[in-house]
Amino acid sequence: MAKGVKLKEIEAGLFVPSDYFRRIGRREIFPGDAPLEVDLGCGDGAFLLAMARQFPERNFLGVERLLGRVRKVARDITRAGLVNCKVLRLESKYTIEWLLERQCIKRLHLLCPDPWPKARHHERRLVQQDFLGSLWDALEPGGEFLFKTDHDEYYEWVCDQVTRFGRFTCVPWRKDDFFYPKTDFQVLWESQGKVLQSLRCVKNK
Ligand SMILES: C[S@@+](CC[C@H](N)C(=O)[O-])C[C@H]1O[C@@H](n2cnc3c(N)ncnc32)[C@H](O)[C@@H]1O
Repeated sequence: MAKGVKLKEIEAGLFVPSDYFRRIGRREIFPGDAPLEVDLGCGDGAFLLAMARQFPERNFLGVERLLGRVRKVARDITRAGLVNCKVLRLESKYTIEWLLERQCIKRLHLLCPDPWPKARHHERRLVQQDFLGSLWDALEPGGEFLFKTDHDEYYEWVCDQVTRFGRFTCVPWRKDDFFYPKTDFQVLWESQGKVLQSLRCVKNK
């Protein structure tokens, strides 16, 4: 395939903000009023694309910092002909804290994020009090935070952070409550016999 065609395929699936230093509303990413779901650290995008195929009446934004993964996801989106899905190459915390408008996300998915297991690296974990504050601001009223990890200690950490934050209500999340495809890392971890833990939190008024 010619280089220009390949580039066009990538560009069509990408969301590139016109300005990284002002807030972006969801209608600047997708036209119309459909609710926005964000997949933070979307990796190779299997979950993101499966959700976009299943729910054409919702919009999906993947956020990923690795260029190779972003290119792959963007190309896959274009080839699948999905108009309700885009990928943004940016740092997760910056996206939530500074880029997206307040109250514009219906559901935020954080799936198999890096657990930073060593104690001296815990400060690098994404889920901390300041992140939860920014996430609370970015979610619509009644919006949800969905989290999965194979790392038990990180799961306990996130539960503890959410409890201390105090402005989310954790609700049950059973396997068949709603369509929720496995991510690439979930498939990998489960093939190694690991068990994932899940947390579903609703934004309090
Ligand atoms: C362990 S992988 C999980 C990928 C995917 N969610 C899954 O479950 O298959 C974590 C992903 O998050 C991305 N990532 C890690 N830290 C990030 C950050 N601060 N901002 C954006 N992406 C990040 C990594 O590049 C990687 O693709």
